[in-house]
Amino acid sequence: MRRPWVAGNWKMNGSQAQAQTLLGELSELRELSEIDVCLVPPAPYWLQINDAVKGSSLRVLAQTVSEYDSGAYTGELSSAMLKDCGVSGALVGHSERRQFYAENDYVVAAKFKALRQAGLSPVLCVGETLAEREAGETLSVVSRQLLAVLESQGPEALANAVLAYEPVWAIGTGLTASPIQAQAVHASLRAVVAAFDADCAAALRIVYGGSVKASNAQGLFAMPDIDGALVGGASLQATEFLAICRAAQQAL
Ligand code: 13P
Repeated sequence: MRRPWVAGNWKMNGSQAQAQTLLGELSELRELSEIDVCLVPPAPYWLQINDAVKGSSLRVLAQTVSEYDSGAYTGELSSAMLKDCGVSGALVGHSERRQFYAENDYVVAAKFKALRQAGLSPVLCVGETLAEREAGETLSVVSRQLLAVLESQGPEALANAVLAYEPVWAIGTGLTASPIQAQAVHASLRAVVAAFDADCAAALRIVYGGSVKASNAQGLFAMPDIDGALVGGASLQATEFLAICRAAQQAL
């Protein structure tokens, strides 16, 4: 049985005041002991949020990380810095990073490796664009994105990782992949890992992201290979995010 995993990616939103309010409204999350819940705020709020969630099972993740250890990389943040601030891991390969910051599979794999070497948990994001889906390329695109890590670092690299399937056409658009569409991709991704190591594939949490809301979470979590959600917009609204987390706990 895989433990459900839900994370709220705030993207470039929020303020200290908003973080404070949201954390107060999310206090009920401390009672959801059977799922892993992560908050993924912008870096300036890591310390504030870490302080507020101390003693609970809530974890803070970064939205990205540098592939380098230290040095002349202005604006970048290393895995060691994340660790120093009590951050548990980071997203790598989010489609917005791939699209707006030209991060390719090679760079994403390097970031994944940097996190592992620091003992942090990577969340590898994969997903196809609308044009790729319409061209029937969904499985080849997401497999390629996953294989960039698997082939260079082996299936054991996924031991502390989470894989997030986020179809680009469903992110921030209100269009969600149907549970059946998402399940088909999740099962294929698990099969890609199983070709390397069946146990590792069975244990790997594969979560869905793309317009997840309270109203569609339950249907998604009912699918056998959907182990949780990476939530964007809805994670900024406490009632929505709480309802999504409760749905994950109920799907156990
Ligand atoms: P939305 O839930 O806003 O579609 O964002 C999904 C996402 O990109 C999470 O990383």
